Amino acid sequence: MKKALEFDAKQHYYEPHHNDGKNGTYKCASCPALNNLAYRGFIPRTGRSVTYQNMAQSMRDVFNFGDDNIMIVIVPALALQPGAATLDLDQFMDDKAQHSINCPAAPTRLEKNIGNNIDIDMTLFNQLLSFSKNGETFSLEDLAEHHHLRHNQSRAEGPHWQFGNSNATCALAQYTNLVGVLGRNGEYGLQTLYVEDVKRFYLLEYLPLAYERRELPYYSVESTVLNDRMTHHIGFQF
Ligand code: HEM
Repeated sequence: MKKALEFDAKQHYYEPHHNDGKNGTYKCASCPALNNLAYRGFIPRTGRSVTYQNMAQSMRDVFNFGDDNIMIVIVPALALQPGAATLDLDQFMDDKAQHSINCPAAPTRLEKNIGNNIDIDMTLFNQLLSFSKNGETFSLEDLAEHHHLRHNQSRAEGPHWQFGNSNATCALAQYTNLVGVLGRNGEYGLQTLYVEDVKRFYLLEYLPLAYERRELPYYSVESTVLNDRMTHHIGFQF
């Protein structure tokens, strides 16, 4: 089901960076998984000139993220930068990517029209943590309720707000990726997401201490089922 992740700790030592802005050395994404790959050197540590192949292979190696899920994010990025073999991590959040890759109602990032949409917003992060009913784990339903709040906050904040099915898929996948990839045994089986793991993954952008890699890839059929369960809980349907 899940196995310890083996890698060369000398080569893949942990060295976190902050996003340096437009002309800086280091580029980060609003995705803790992508930043995690950069901080450990699975992709270039600068977060710049990352090849699509390197990004995809590292996502398989570290998270066993399924190829179809990888393509869902990478294909629009390729379309926005036609002909480019590489991209910088912050390009996933730039003006071009709005509504195709960077969607409204991200769990812990501000909307681009409000401010910094790359770095974690601690008020939003603490709000996310407060949705765990027992303080130790998140159920999919807890996460659905948090998404519902973020949806309504985002709607109130955006003068030109729009939220179609693809935005919903994108917003929900940010939660269900956590459950599908980082979930480990507990009260909801392997779909139990632990608060301590979420803290470590978001705040250090480091793998949870008890992290084990899925043996089966996390394909989109599984994420669709999880997304669907979340939408049903809050009375919405794709
Ligand atoms: C090729 C693979 C991936 C790419 C290109 C990617 C890219 C992105 C992008 C562009 C965002 C920002 C979306 C937005 O703000 O609307 C994002 C958010 C996020 N990603 Fe990824 N991602 C990938 C895989 C993963 C995996 C495997 C995980 C989990 C282990 C993950 C966890 C998250 C989370 C939790 C967020 C939400 C951050 C927040 O709280 O706002 N991603 N990702």
